[in-house]
Amino acid sequence: MPTQVTVSAPVNIAVVKYWGKRDTSLLLPTNSSLSLTLSQDDLRSTTTVRIDALFNKDRLWLNGKEEDATANKRMVRVVQELRAVRKELQNKDSSLEALDEQKMHICSENNFPTAAGLASSASGFAALTFGIAHALGIADKISTADLSRLARQGSGSACRSLFGGFVAWNMGINPDGSDSVAEQVADEKHWPDMEALVLVASDARKDTPSTAGMQLTIETSDLLRERIANVVPQRMSDIKTAIVNKNYDAFAEHTMRDSNQFHAVCLDTFPPITYLNDVSRAVIHLVTAYNNLFTEKSDNAASSKKGYRAAYTFDAGPNAVLYVRREHVPEILAIVNATFPAPADADKQTYLGRAAQYVGQEDKTVVSDLLSKIKMAPMPQGSLKRIISTSVGDGPRVLGWN
Ligand code: DP6
Repeated sequence: MPTQVTVSAPVNIAVVKYWGKRDTSLLLPTNSSLSLTLSQDDLRSTTTVRIDALFNKDRLWLNGKEEDATANKRMVRVVQELRAVRKELQNKDSSLEALDEQKMHICSENNFPTAAGLASSASGFAALTFGIAHALGIADKISTADLSRLARQGSGSACRSLFGGFVAWNMGINPDGSDSVAEQVADEKHWPDMEALVLVASDARKDTPSTAGMQLTIETSDLLRERIANVVPQRMSDIKTAIVNKNYDAFAEHTMRDSNQFHAVCLDTFPPITYLNDVSRAVIHLVTAYNNLFTEKSDNAASSKKGYRAAYTFDAGPNAVLYVRREHVPEILAIVNATFPAPADADKQTYLGRAAQYVGQEDKTVVSDLLSKIKMAPMPQGSLKRIISTSVGDGPRVLGWN
């Protein structure tokens, strides 16, 4: 009997970034990282896996186009590993039919632009691992941590997309990667007013893919060594505490500092890697000016009272993700829309999507007062391509069996 299952998996956006590998074949990182899983209602990879005794080879379709299933080495590895787990289970339980030899057809698509710094490899490999595990009938026989370890071998950041909520990837120390696995710090219901606004500055494929970029950084950046040894361990501990205590100020400051340091490390790579563009820098400027309005200054900068309203973070691309609290979303959207006017021909539904629900909910007097204090000239029309409003979401889902 052929088996067919369709699953979806979420995108995750790190607030403590993974950048650098100590093992390039097992994808073992040089530092731990932490991310928020975003809602699959807005951003997701959907994957269908069909296993059929009549198939004579594995085949793969990505976003509607057939790819050479043997050319994608990371995918081949994840599939092999999952088949090996199935074989082991069959050997232990003779009532299980031999599925490990049967070929599979895999069809995967994203509902957002691939490789534009929106973590498509994370949701893609999480969906692939989760889907094949279900098709092979092993999903309920192994732990989510085991699935996370398998997904990691497809793309490092994918190991975090196996969980919902707030997720840490502990780098581990074992050479075989057995302890390099993600775990949930808090589930998606823990901090219900945490929202994300994705400001899409470009839909284009990035110039330097993460894998190649982080290898060059490992080989050439002195700053990376400092980050690994003296910054990330403390930051991981501090940001976990901030999340557990729902301390937004501490969460926001670590998030922005970590994004800044990741891009500083990219610039310290030789030759340098630049992922941010003028729009990204304008977003940083705007968020900083906005946050400053709520900071009570004192003579000593370190002891000034912070009142952050928005926290930016950028992956390996120019798109910003703002982590904000729901009560501030209408105001922040109004400020973003005033600074980055939509393209003249933009259809509101396409440009704003779900974010459209917040338009007009802001207090117009407050917003115009804030804009006059921020004093930032609007960017050219259309410099932001799209705004995606989303929230923290759950882990992978089974959508159906046929
Ligand atoms: C900047 O997981 O895409 O998004 O393991 O080589 O597939 P590979 O890299 P990938 O790198 C993600 C880098 C990042 C930071 C992060 O998500 O932690």
